[in-house]
Amino acid sequence: MTDKRFKRTLVTCALPYANGPVHIGHLAGVYVPADIYVRYLRLRGEDVLYVCGSDEHGVPITIKARQQGCSPQDIVDKYHALIKDSFEALGIHFDIYGRTSSEVHRRNASAFFRKLYDEGKFVTRESEQYYDPEAKTFLADRYIVGTCPKCGNPAAYGDQCEKCGSTLSPEELIDPRSKLSGAQPVKKKTTHWYLPLQDYEPWLREWILEGHKEWRPNVYGRVKSWLDGGLQPRAVTRDLDWGVPVPVEGAEGKVLYVWFDAPIGYISNTQELLPDSWEKWWKSPDTKLVHFIGKDNIVFHCIVFPAMLKAYGDGYILPENVPANEFLNLEGDKISTSRGWAVWAHEYLHDFPGKEDVMRYVLTANAPQTQDNDFSWKDFQTRNNSELVAIFGNFVNRALVLTHKYFGGRVPAPGTLLDSDRETLAEVPALAASLARNIEEYKFREAQRDAMSIARLGNKYISDSEPWKVAKEDLARTGTILNVCLQLCADLALAFEPFTPFAAAKLRKMLDVELNWDALGSAEILPEGHQLGEPELLFAKIEDDAIQAQLDRLARIRAEKEAEAAAEQARQVAPQKPEISFEQFDAMDIRTATVLEAERVPKTDKLLKLTIDTGIDRRTIVSGIAEYYSPEQMLGKQICILANLAPRTIRGIVSQGMILMAKQGDGSMRFITPQEVLANGAQIG
Ligand code: 2FM
Ligand code: ZN
Repeated sequence: MTDKRFKRTLVTCALPYANGPVHIGHLAGVYVPADIYVRYLRLRGEDVLYVCGSDEHGVPITIKARQQGCSPQDIVDKYHALIKDSFEALGIHFDIYGRTSSEVHRRNASAFFRKLYDEGKFVTRESEQYYDPEAKTFLADRYIVGTCPKCGNPAAYGDQCEKCGSTLSPEELIDPRSKLSGAQPVKKKTTHWYLPLQDYEPWLREWILEGHKEWRPNVYGRVKSWLDGGLQPRAVTRDLDWGVPVPVEGAEGKVLYVWFDAPIGYISNTQELLPDSWEKWWKSPDTKLVHFIGKDNIVFHCIVFPAMLKAYGDGYILPENVPANEFLNLEGDKISTSRGWAVWAHEYLHDFPGKEDVMRYVLTANAPQTQDNDFSWKDFQTRNNSELVAIFGNFVNRALVLTHKYFGGRVPAPGTLLDSDRETLAEVPALAASLARNIEEYKFREAQRDAMSIARLGNKYISDSEPWKVAKEDLARTGTILNVCLQLCADLALAFEPFTPFAAAKLRKMLDVELNWDALGSAEILPEGHQLGEPELLFAKIEDDAIQAQLDRLARIRAEKEAEAAAEQARQVAPQKPEISFEQFDAMDIRTATVLEAERVPKTDKLLKLTIDTGIDRRTIVSGIAEYYSPEQMLGKQICILANLAPRTIRGIVSQGMILMAKQGDGSMRFITPQEVLANGAQIG
C-alpha cells in the first residue's frame, strides 16, 4: 500500500445533478483527477473502490421538468444515462454509478434520517417560508423570481441573480412572483428539522484544523473560515414533492433536503454494489476515504456530511482527504450552464471521436488545483499537436517503426551501453518517483508533467542518437539505441496509464506486454528478442478547422447572449416618479416643432445645436443627443419640445427649451415624433 496506514482506498466523486450533461468544468474539477488517482492505485495493485452516481433530487430538477412539461423522473432518467455514457466513453469506469432515486438509496437515506431523529439529534424550528397561494405549495427560493435589487435584472431568482452573480434572499427581490403561477408569494409558517452544526464545531476544529493541516490550502482555508464564522443549525428537510419523503408522522409534503440525502448516496451506492461487504469500505479504520469534489461542495463534504456521520456514529469513517478543485473557465469566461457557455462532454466526444485522451490530458495540464484556471481551444490544439503528437507520439512511433525496419519488430540486444544510454535510463526512476509522490499528494498536473518528462527524455535521446543514421554503419549500436528507446516506451505505457489510458492501452498492445508498476524505470522491461506488435500512431494532429468550428460555436453563443442581454436591458423600465398635481402637469407647455438647422456644438461629443420652428417663433435648443443622432439625421424632423422651460446657457449658447426624448433601459435615447406631421406649435397635453 502506498499509504501504509491503510489497507484499501474508497474513492468517491461528487454525484453530478441529473438535470443536464456534464461539461469540461466538472471533468477537470472532479472526474479526471479522481480517475487518475484510481488508475494509479490500481496500477500499483491496491484495493480500490470507485463510487459515483447521479444526484437525482433537488429543486433545479423539478424546475427543468416543469419547463419541459415532463416529470422529474423523465429528466433524471435522461441525464443519468447521458452522463453515465459520457464517463464511460472518457475511460472513467466507476465500480458503480448509482442513482439517488433508487429504492436502495431511498430506504437507506430514510433510515439514516430516522435514526438521527429517534436519537434526538435534530432540532425542529418553525419559520416563515414563502408560499404560493394559487399553486398551494411552499416555494423554494429558486421558485421565486423578481427584480434584482443590485443590477435590475427582472429575472433574478430568490437565491441568486445569475446576471450579476449576487447571492440574494427572496426578501430582497423587488416585485417577487412565484415561478409556478405568477402569483405574489405570501409568508406561511412551516416546521423543519435542523442539524445543530454548532454542536459539532469543536470536534470539527480538532479533526480538520488540527488534524489535517496537509489538506489543500483552498480546502483548509474555506473550512477554517466557515468554522471561524460560527456554525448555525442547518435545515435538513424541505417542503417539496420530489425527493426522499421525511419518514416521520406529520411530515407529509416534506422531503429530505437534497444535500442531506446526496452524500448518503455514496453509502447507498456502495451497498447496492456490495450488499454483504459494504461496511468494510465505510466502517473500517483500515479504509482510506477520499472525496473528489469541486470547490462549491467543500462545506458539504468537510462540515455537513462529517457532522451527519459523527451524529450517526456506528463506526463510519471520515475522509482522509478532500482534494477539492477550484473552477475551470472557458475562453476566459466563467462556465455557465444556463448561458450555454460550456463544452459538454457528450458533444466533445461526438466532435472529436477517438480523442478522449486529449481532453483528459489538456484538462489535467490546466487543472484548477489551487486557483481557477482557463480552458481555451487554442491551448487544446497546441497541447495535442506540440506535446502529445510531437513528443510522446513521435518518440514512440520512431522507436517502433525503426525496430520493425531494422529488427523485424523484435527487441534488439542491449549490447554495450554507453554513458549517454545509462544516463538516459537513470533519469527514469527519479521521474517515476516524483510522479508517484505527486499523485499521492493529489498534484495531478505536476504528475502528468513528470510522465511527459519521460517522453521528452526519450524524444531527445532518439533525436540525439540518430539510430537511422547509425544503422548505415553499425547495426549493433542501432540495436542498443532502440533497446533503450523501447524500454522507455514501456515506461511511458506505465507512466501515462493514469492520464491517457487509451494511448497507454494502445502502446501496451504495440509492445505486446503486460506491465506492472514496479518495472517502471528498470532497463529490462522488454527482454531481448521479444516480438512487438504492429506500430500505430498514438495521437493525430488536430487541424485548425476543427478548432475554428469550436470557436465559431462559442462566438455564436456569445453573440446571442449579448443580443439577449442588450434587448433585456432595453426592456427594463425605470420606476415611476413621485406623484405630481394636474396643475403641475398643465403648467408645462409641450408642443410640436420642426428642426430647421442642426450642427454639432464645437469641442463636444454629445451636444447638438438645433434651430427649430416652434410655431410661435424660431429658437435655439442645445440638446445632448449627438450620441444618438447626427445633425443630418435631425434636419427636417418634427419633434416635441417643452417650450416654457427656463432658458439655460450651455457652452455659451442660450438653450430655450428641451426636446422630449424617450430613455430606454440601456440608457439609449430616441426623440419623440408625432405619428403624422402636424402643424408646428400644436400643443400636447
Ligand atoms: O454540486 C453538485 O453537483 C452536487 N450534485 C454534488 C453532490 S455530491 C454528494 F454529496 F452527493
Ligand atoms: Zn443582479
